[in-house]
Amino acid sequence: MRDVIIACDFSTKEQTLAFLDQFTTVKPFVKIGMELYYAEGPDMVREIKARGHKIFLDLKLHDIPNTVYKAMKNVAKLGVDMTNVHAAGTIEMMKAAQKAIDEVNPETKLIAVTQLTSTSEQMMQEELWINHPINDTVQHYAKNAQKAGLAGVVCSPLEAHLVQEVCGEDFMTVTPGIRFDDASKGDQKRVTTPAMAKEIGSHFIVVGRPITAAEDPVAAYQRCVKEFVGE
Ligand code: C5P
Repeated sequence: MRDVIIACDFSTKEQTLAFLDQFTTVKPFVKIGMELYYAEGPDMVREIKARGHKIFLDLKLHDIPNTVYKAMKNVAKLGVDMTNVHAAGTIEMMKAAQKAIDEVNPETKLIAVTQLTSTSEQMMQEELWINHPINDTVQHYAKNAQKAGLAGVVCSPLEAHLVQEVCGEDFMTVTPGIRFDDASKGDQKRVTTPAMAKEIGSHFIVVGRPITAAEDPVAAYQRCVKEFVGE
């Protein structure tokens, strides 16, 4: 189980569909995030699904368990392949989210955000008052997600091995922060190439600008698949 997920970080339906129209022979797995979802709503998800794409709906739910349970039922009704919550919402909240999925569409894989990669260790300790090293916190939150019955976590590829150390190799790691070795890093700081992510043991890589901003997005996607999946 390894695949490349394209982060469709566009703000309109038109831009998104024009981008996807370029893929005529393959239907890549795509990630729809808050920007597009809040602009276009669930119809956007239905339309992309109807075109034959697998979808990771990246809405990072975090609220009281009852609210997350009800919201997750609506997400599961969309029939998405993957979606997520914040592990910081507690095991009880993650269990509520997983229960909603089990009741509506058990095919949807639920994963958790451990610590956002935009949060430094210093910010985590001084602002969030989590008095532990960040790697320990990532491992602890991943274990909580596993205890709640989730399928895996979103993490930096550089953290994937830490997660697998405590949760096992079958616990899914979905990793953004991917760049080709001949490209600029943009605003991402801790990056790896698709080939390195494969070596480290990621199950899915989430790739945005290296594909969406490429001169030839289809070729860039195929390069990712070749390096990461090996086809
Ligand atoms: O363009 P780029 O490849 O940097 O896009 C990576 C995608 O992964 C974006 O949608 C970004 O929001 C997302 N992401 C991330 N780091 C995280 C979680 C999500 O880069 N920790």
